[in-house]
Amino acid sequence: KKVAIFVSGGGSNMRALVSDMSGDHPARPAVIVSNNANAGGIAWAKEQGLQTVVVDHRPHGADRAAFEAELTAALAPHAPDIICLAGFMRKLTAGFTDMWRGKMINIHPSLLPKYKGLHTHARALEAGDTAHGCTVHEVTAALDDGPILGQASLRIHEGDTAEVLAERVLVLEHKLYPAVLRRFAENDRTPVIL
Ligand code: GRF
Repeated sequence: KKVAIFVSGGGSNMRALVSDMSGDHPARPAVIVSNNANAGGIAWAKEQGLQTVVVDHRPHGADRAAFEAELTAALAPHAPDIICLAGFMRKLTAGFTDMWRGKMINIHPSLLPKYKGLHTHARALEAGDTAHGCTVHEVTAALDDGPILGQASLRIHEGDTAEVLAERVLVLEHKLYPAVLRRFAENDRTPVIL
């Protein structure tokens, strides 16, 4: 299976996925995609000799469909079977998510369905939650809302700040996402629970 990984920033999740796709793993990274030419993930991917594609969303302004049309054209030569969103910070329209329905997954830093959207760690702290973590889910038209493919959880510690919690959750993300992709690439949708 060929995997496209979409990043917007440092791409630590992308690096964890790429590092795991070796040996008997049924998938291989086909292309690393970003909306941000300066994404650290793109620089790293280039150093690894991976194919990269940058499609800047800014020239398209509010025209998400035009951005996605450019994205689709740039993806075509790489013919991915699976798309992994990994710290990709652009919302995708139903036009794009429908095209990739059942083939596109995302990692979100909360125990969905709690805390869809942004600032998940601060919101969990604010709510006084004792458990927190991350979720990998299939991408649908609704934000952070598709079928859950895996979750990893931790206990919130006394004195945890949003920054500390984000770092602790990121470690879990790097374990969860590769484990889910291994199953997903075999069409196994049994949830991974860590
Ligand atoms: C992190 O906040 C992570 O929780 C979320 O996306 C952000 C960047 O991740 N999934 P990455 O280092 O670019 O993978």
